[in-house]
Amino acid sequence: MIHVDKKLLNFHLQTKHTSYIMRVLPSKHLGCVYYGDKLDDKKPINHLEAKHEIEIGNQVIYEEHDKTFNLNLAYLEMPTYGKGDFREPALHIRYDDGSRTSDFHYLKHDIIDKPIFKEMPETKAYKDNIKTLVIILKDDYRNVEVEMHYTVFYDQDVISRRAIYKNTSDQSFIIEKAMSMNFDTFSDQYQLTTFDGAWIRERMINKRLVEQGIIKIDSKKGVSSSDHNPFIVLAKDQTNEQYGKCYGFGLIYSGNFEAIIERSPYDMIRVQMGINSFDFYWELKPQESFTTPEALMSYSSSGLNTLSQNYHNLIKNHIIKPDWQGKERPVLFNNWEATFFDFTQRKLINLAKQAKKLGIELFVLDDGWFGSRNSDTEGLGDWTVNKKKLPLGLQKLAKKINDIGLDFGLWVEPEMVNPKSDLYKEHPDWVIKHPGYKPSFGRNQLILDLSKEDVRTYIKASISNIIDSANIKYMKWDMNRNFSDIYSNALNHKSQGKLMHLYQLGLYDILEYLTNKYPEVLFESCASGGNRFDLGMFLYMPQAWTSDNTDGYTRQLIHYGTSYCFPQSVMGAHVSDSPSSMSIRKTDLETRFDVNCFGLLGYELDITKLTKFQKHVIKNQIKFYKEHRALLQFGEYYRIKNPFETNNTYIAVTNKDKTEAILGIFQTLQNAAEGLEKIDMYMLDKTIDYHITNRKSFFNIGKFSYLVGHALPIKLNHNGIAFHTLKNRYLYEKEKEDQIVSGDQLVNNGFIPKQNFMGTGINESVRLMGDFGSRLYYFKKK
Ligand code: DGJ
Repeated sequence: MIHVDKKLLNFHLQTKHTSYIMRVLPSKHLGCVYYGDKLDDKKPINHLEAKHEIEIGNQVIYEEHDKTFNLNLAYLEMPTYGKGDFREPALHIRYDDGSRTSDFHYLKHDIIDKPIFKEMPETKAYKDNIKTLVIILKDDYRNVEVEMHYTVFYDQDVISRRAIYKNTSDQSFIIEKAMSMNFDTFSDQYQLTTFDGAWIRERMINKRLVEQGIIKIDSKKGVSSSDHNPFIVLAKDQTNEQYGKCYGFGLIYSGNFEAIIERSPYDMIRVQMGINSFDFYWELKPQESFTTPEALMSYSSSGLNTLSQNYHNLIKNHIIKPDWQGKERPVLFNNWEATFFDFTQRKLINLAKQAKKLGIELFVLDDGWFGSRNSDTEGLGDWTVNKKKLPLGLQKLAKKINDIGLDFGLWVEPEMVNPKSDLYKEHPDWVIKHPGYKPSFGRNQLILDLSKEDVRTYIKASISNIIDSANIKYMKWDMNRNFSDIYSNALNHKSQGKLMHLYQLGLYDILEYLTNKYPEVLFESCASGGNRFDLGMFLYMPQAWTSDNTDGYTRQLIHYGTSYCFPQSVMGAHVSDSPSSMSIRKTDLETRFDVNCFGLLGYELDITKLTKFQKHVIKNQIKFYKEHRALLQFGEYYRIKNPFETNNTYIAVTNKDKTEAILGIFQTLQNAAEGLEKIDMYMLDKTIDYHITNRKSFFNIGKFSYLVGHALPIKLNHNGIAFHTLKNRYLYEKEKEDQIVSGDQLVNNGFIPKQNFMGTGINESVRLMGDFGSRLYYFKKK
C-alpha cells in the first residue's frame, strides 16, 4: 500500500506489518522519517523526527534563513557531498568543471506498476499486482535527475529500492559512487550481523556493536564472494531468533558490491548498499541514464526468524522463476567427490546403476567430460565431448543413464578459458587481461571478457549446442576464479571503470537467454561452492551449490548462516564421504544426511564402494526424504539453537498450517553428563495434538569398539575379522521416540526428547548422540 499526502508531500509505504515513511523537507530534500512496525497512515507524522530548535555548533547551515537546519543532522534518502553532510554520500559525481558538489531536491512523484529493467536481475511481480512509488529528485544547477524507486511487497514485508541516475544536461560527467539505497535512522545500540567467510567457510555469522565510525563490507573479487555476502542485518541489542527488532538489507547483484554502516558523532545510523564504488567510474553522457541494482529492505519486530522468513518468502515468490516455484527437486548423485577427473564411461555407468538402487533420481556428470580436460590445467572453453573418455558421446551416454532410470545432468564453466585450449589459441584477445602484464591465474584459468558481444554469442551457442545434443535435465553452472588484471581491450581509457559492471550485465544477458530458452532445464549455480551465492543468481537459477565443504559439522554452520537470507529450497546440500577431505573429520553417515536433508539433497561419494550397512542406511534416508520432501524443501524454516554460540544446532521446518514439522537436533561434542534438554517449539500450533516420532536411524557398532564386549552375549575380539565383518552388516537401531504431546505444552514448555547419554551405559531408551551426532523428529497432527 502506498499512501501519499499530496499537500504535505508525505509518503507512507505500508506492508502487512511495517511502515516506511518519507517526506519532503522544507529544504526540498527527500527525508527519511520512519521504518518500523506499522503505523496508522491517517495520523500526523511530525512526532517521528528528531527536533531541531536551535543552531548546533560547528555545522554548515544549509540556508541562511533557517539556522536550525543542516544536512549533517538530517535523515536523508539521497545524501550527496558538498552541502554540509559529512557522512557517506550515496551519490558522488565529478562534473566536467572538476566540481564534486551535488544537491538534489524533490521534483515530482508517481505511482506506477512495477517497471521492468531487462538488463539486470530484479524482483518480479509475476502474477501479483505490485506497485512502485517513483520520486524524482533534481539538481537544478547541474540538470541531473535521480529516480528513486520504492516497490512494496505487502505480503512479504519487504520494500525494494533502487536509484536511477539520469543526465538531462548537455555535458558528460563521471559517476564515482552510485548507491542503490540509503537509509538513515536514530541509533539505539544496534548490533550489525554480516555473513563472512572464505572458500569452504561461507556465510559465517559475524556480529558486532555499531560504534561511531564507518563499517564497510565489500567485494573487490568480481563476484559477490564468500568473503562477505551482500546481505546484512541490523538488530537492536538483545534481539534473538524469536524476539526483538531487526532490519535486513540485501542487494540483488552478483559482482563487486559494498554495504556501508555509519554511526555519526550524533549517533545517527546510515546504511547504504550498492555497486562497490572502489575501482568504479562511469561516464554518463547527455541523455544517458545509469540504473543501479535493486536492494531489498525488511523489518521485523518479532525476531530474526521472522526477518529471514520475509526474505525466504520474497525469494520464493518474486525471485525464483514461476516454473520452479515450489517445484520439488530431485535427489541427485554428483560424481565429483566420487571420482574427481579420474573416471571412465564404465565407472559412470556403474555409479548410475548403484544410484538407481539407492533411490536417487538424477545423475550429474561433473567436471572433466569435455575437450582435453583431465585435470584443471586444460580444456576450459572447448565445449565438445571428450570421446577418449566417453566413447559413447553425450547423447548415447545420457540415453544409457535414462535407461537405467535416472535423469541426466551436466557441469559447465562457460565464463572461463584455460590457455591450454583450442578456444584460447583461436581467441587470445577474448580474455580479461592487461596487454602490458603477464596475466595472473586462478586455478590455471583466465576469465572471458563478457562485456564483448562475440564472447557472449560464443557462450550462448556452445551451451545451447550441449543442451540440444542430449537429454539434459540439469546443468551446474560453475565459476572458479576471482578477477585480476582488470582491463578490457574493447573499452577506451574513459570506460575501463565500467568493466566490472559490464561483465555482470554480460553474464546476466547470457543467463537470461539460456534460462528462457531452456525453461525445463534445472540450472544450479556454483562458484567454487558459495563464492557467488547471492540474490542476483537466483533470478536465473533456482538453486546453488552452497559450499565445497561437505563436512557434516561445518555444513551445520554454513547452512545456519546461509538461512538468514536464503531459504533451504535454494541450497544444494550433499552427503559426501567421511572423513571429510576438507576437515579430515569423521562424522556419522546418519548425521551427514540429517544435516543435508534440510536442503536440496544429493550424494557425492563413491557409492560403488558402500558396505551393506551403508547401502541400507542410505536407502532408508532417501525414502524418508522423499516422503517428506515438500516439507523439507519448502517448509517454513526456524533456527532454534545456534552452533556459533552453543554446543548444538537445532532447526525446524513446518508446513503452512503447522500440522507437520520436522525438528533436527545436532550435538557438536559429547560432553560429560550434560544438562537435560528442552527444545523450544514455539512455532507449532497450540491447538493441535502432535504425534512425535523420530526418523529410524542406525549405529554402526564399530563405533563402540571394545565396549561392545560389555553388551554382546558372545565375546568377540574388537580388532578381529569377525567383528570387522559384523560391524558393516549388523544394523543397531537407535532409541525410538513415539509419543503424543499437546501443542500448548510444546509451545509453552518445549519438546523434551529421550534422556541424553550420561556416561553410565545405554539401553533402548537412552539417546546416545556422541560427537557430531544428530536426531530428526517428525511432528504430525494426531
Ligand atoms: C568447483 C565446484 O564447487 C565443485 O563442486 C566441482 O564442480 C569443481 N569445481 C569441478 O571442477
